[in-house]
Amino acid sequence: MSAPPAPNARYYSGFYPMHLALLSVARNVLPVAWWTPVSKDPFRFVVAIDRRNHSLALLRGCGEAALHFLPWRERERVIRAGYASGRRRDKASRLGFELEPATALAETYVVRGADAVFELRVRRELVDADDDGDHVPFLFDVVHVHRGTRPATGEPLLFLGWRDFATLGERWRFRP
Ligand SMILES: Cc1cc2nc3c(=O)[nH]c(=O)nc-3n(C[C@H](O)[C@H](O)[C@H](O)COP(=O)(O)O)c2cc1C
Repeated sequence: MSAPPAPNARYYSGFYPMHLALLSVARNVLPVAWWTPVSKDPFRFVVAIDRRNHSLALLRGCGEAALHFLPWRERERVIRAGYASGRRRDKASRLGFELEPATALAETYVVRGADAVFELRVRRELVDADDDGDHVPFLFDVVHVHRGTRPATGEPLLFLGWRDFATLGERWRFRP
């Protein structure tokens, strides 16, 4: 007889800091901390989207998004985009983001002033049941990259959890 599955532990945010990104979907924008690269060749990311966000329906509708890394000086509006929904208002223009057409996406705009932008097309949703979690992880193909200043060499926007943010302080190169 096999043992019953162990119950899930309670959520604990002891894995922060995370590099905070700004995701655009169509003309809407939201900050996301729960993203990660998962493949180099082909180049792919996973981004987890909260089921309560308006952007979830947008993403299911248009199947594309752009993942931006904005510098520390842009933190205020990036973070404010996470405290308002684009369901009924044009959040991006209210916050003063300048949008321009993407290179490889049909309906999604990119935000000006980012250090780096990754244009993404949905490959698939990685869960299919509502009880698989409160966020829906999407697997994306990277279809175009805008290269600017590498965030790691400048002042990236780091999320420490709750309402706390920071940028990089010391740097150190490991020499094996
Ligand atoms: C620092 C920070 C990190 C966040 N990370 C995520 C995330 O990884 N995934 C997500 O779906 N929502 C995340 N959110 C919440 C959304 O940004 C927020 O719910 C937003 O208002 C949704 O906008 P929308 O309804 O226009 O889609 C984060 C918010 C903040 C402030």
